[in-house]
Amino acid sequence: MDLTLRVWRQEKSEARGRFKVYRVTDVRPDMSFLELLDVLNDRLTLAGEEPIAFEHDCREGICGTCGLMVNGHAHGPQLGTATCQLHMRLFSDGDTIVVEPWRAAAFRVLKDLVVDRSPLDRIIEAGGYITVSAGSAPDANVTPIPKEAAEAAMDAAACIGCGACVAACPNSAAQLFTAAKVAHLGLLPQGQPERWSRAESMVETMERFFGSCTNHGECEKACPKSISIDFIAMLNRDFVRAKWKNRSLAGQKR
Ligand code: SF4
Ligand code: FES
Repeated sequence: MDLTLRVWRQEKSEARGRFKVYRVTDVRPDMSFLELLDVLNDRLTLAGEEPIAFEHDCREGICGTCGLMVNGHAHGPQLGTATCQLHMRLFSDGDTIVVEPWRAAAFRVLKDLVVDRSPLDRIIEAGGYITVSAGSAPDANVTPIPKEAAEAAMDAAACIGCGACVAACPNSAAQLFTAAKVAHLGLLPQGQPERWSRAESMVETMERFFGSCTNHGECEKACPKSISIDFIAMLNRDFVRAKWKNRSLAGQKR
């Protein structure tokens, strides 16, 4: 296939960005989207031009670093797929593909397609952990956990922290990310000691950086791990309960 790429180029955060057009020839359908960018970068390097900066690591859909807007879709048009697992067979000869970084006020563009996703780390720092000593790996089934809870916690734990939910949301909300992180700990016994402080503190940190959720549901569609927005309902419920519990813990009257 021969393709035309319109790629966002921006030298640094403070610089003005713009789209630059590149022709890429001989693209194979079995290439991944990141391999397409590799091929383009090789050609740019050989021509003495600055290669396009983009993030990647695992290239197998588990690290969450490779987020790009492809033709206006976070991670491209294929549901439940990270950019690194998007294949060129989805596109046709002669297509023009627009490639941009995540667009969200909280995610500053650092260079070209690379954004600063550290506001997601601030949310994790606010409570996305357990402090009980879990010791060494216990024998299976030592702690009885209902199957439904274990499965839901596993579904939530699939979040790879890519930020596509933020990029797809018209409000740039991080509710789906936060909900997944709160749920995968809050559903398990080990996560109970900090359940209420975690929910309150992670939501309040989230609101410092990101917009508010108004139930558009775009996040669920963009999520490469198909995390359900049901977790947002669970987060909202835990947050309201946390407000009561935490007041009560602080010795105040309910
Ligand atoms: S909830 Fe989905 S889209 Fe959001 S950060 Fe996690 S994996 Fe990415
Ligand atoms: S490079 Fe790791 S999820 Fe895409």
